[in-house]
Amino acid sequence: MENFEFYSPTCFVFGKDTENQAGKYVKRFNGSKVLIHYGGGSAVRSGLLDRIKKSLDGEGISYVELGGVKPNPRSGLVYEGIDICKKQRVDFVLAVGGGSVIDSAKAIAAGALYDGDFWDYYQGKWIEEALSVGTVLTIAAAGSEGSGDSVVTKEEGMFKRDAHGDVIRPKFSILNPALTQTLPPYQTAAGITDIMAHLYERYLTNTEEVEVTDRLIEGLLLTMIHEGPRVIADPDNYQARANIMWAGTMAHNNSVGVGRSQDWNSHTIEHELSALYDCAHGAGLAVTMPAVFTYQLSHNVMRFAQIAVRVWGCQMDFANPEATAKAGIEAFRNFLISIGMPKNFEELGAKEEDIPKLVDILCHGDGRKGSISGFITLNEDDCTKIYKMMI
Ligand code: NZQ
Ligand code: ZN
Repeated sequence: MENFEFYSPTCFVFGKDTENQAGKYVKRFNGSKVLIHYGGGSAVRSGLLDRIKKSLDGEGISYVELGGVKPNPRSGLVYEGIDICKKQRVDFVLAVGGGSVIDSAKAIAAGALYDGDFWDYYQGKWIEEALSVGTVLTIAAAGSEGSGDSVVTKEEGMFKRDAHGDVIRPKFSILNPALTQTLPPYQTAAGITDIMAHLYERYLTNTEEVEVTDRLIEGLLLTMIHEGPRVIADPDNYQARANIMWAGTMAHNNSVGVGRSQDWNSHTIEHELSALYDCAHGAGLAVTMPAVFTYQLSHNVMRFAQIAVRVWGCQMDFANPEATAKAGIEAFRNFLISIGMPKNFEELGAKEEDIPKLVDILCHGDGRKGSISGFITLNEDDCTKIYKMMI
């Protein structure tokens, strides 16, 4: 295991009706003027936004609103939010929605205290200062409610890039699993896929002797395999939703990723798909991961064989561990298909003829130097082959 520092200061408030305490938690973390940030309408339709406002009113906290965050959030709305925060002297950004809303809120919070272009942060500058962020989560997926990361797409060039900093970790995150019951099945499944991706990308490590985090990841993956189909069959199953929601947070606040190198090649390759085709990030991952894993398999066959045996119940073939490793990837792929995720470019809405463009933006766009690096380093040629495997 490698040395590590684990810093995850978010206060998680979990359970039924907890959104009604939003005002109390904004006050506890010293917010006095709030920007309520939300998405395309689900929070309005469900009445959630009204409950949040009532809760803020109850604490005497004033607020301004900015809705309209699109999935795969764009830079344009971030600039608008920054402007509002500066002009209205906002000191707290409250995200009501999913990963896209939360990431947009984090970008606004960072940009509001920065004199330069907020995009600098998405080109590698570490975020040192930001307004406080709080979240009311409505979809179990991205894990942004407990992460120090934000992913935004710059409209000029459609570069989808991430930024990092401990100061954008939410001060609090309100997690009411019942709020996720209104999700369309496809979004529920995309969320399940993303959560599993966050676990897999940590499992694929080059660090030896990381049994504790290996076992935690396996436990969370087994939970997803158990609860995923239950929630797809019965969207109102509160307990299944609750287990998935907490698994989603645990999968990405890095408690299961400490002390080990991590992969993230699947995420980096997928981000170009959701940037270009505006598909759900989780759906893009469902198509990307089997291809990337198969391509990376020879780098450490035993790692893939281990997860195949421990998580997917495959029989270890000692004479041919590669067969076991491949059986594990196939079992994962079949699971994703069974919950309604796409299996190839066509089902995702991606086009073979776009591959050169995807590879160019992936390997050279916005300051990249010709390759990406994770479990292994992948150059243009590797990435082209991987995208072709998804056809
Ligand atoms: O905009 P509204 O109307 O709210 O609709 C949303 C959106 O269309 C809908 N939705 C959310 N909660 C709902 C609901 N519909 C009905 N009932 C509810 N309770 O679901 C759609 C997807 O929402 P979105 O926020 O985009 O989903 P998700 O949480 O999967 O976030 C995806 C974004 O997060 C990024 C992804 O790249 C993508 O841009 N990621 C962020 C990470 C981070 N910050 O740590 C890590 C992840 O790996 C990921 O890259
Ligand atoms: Zn993800």
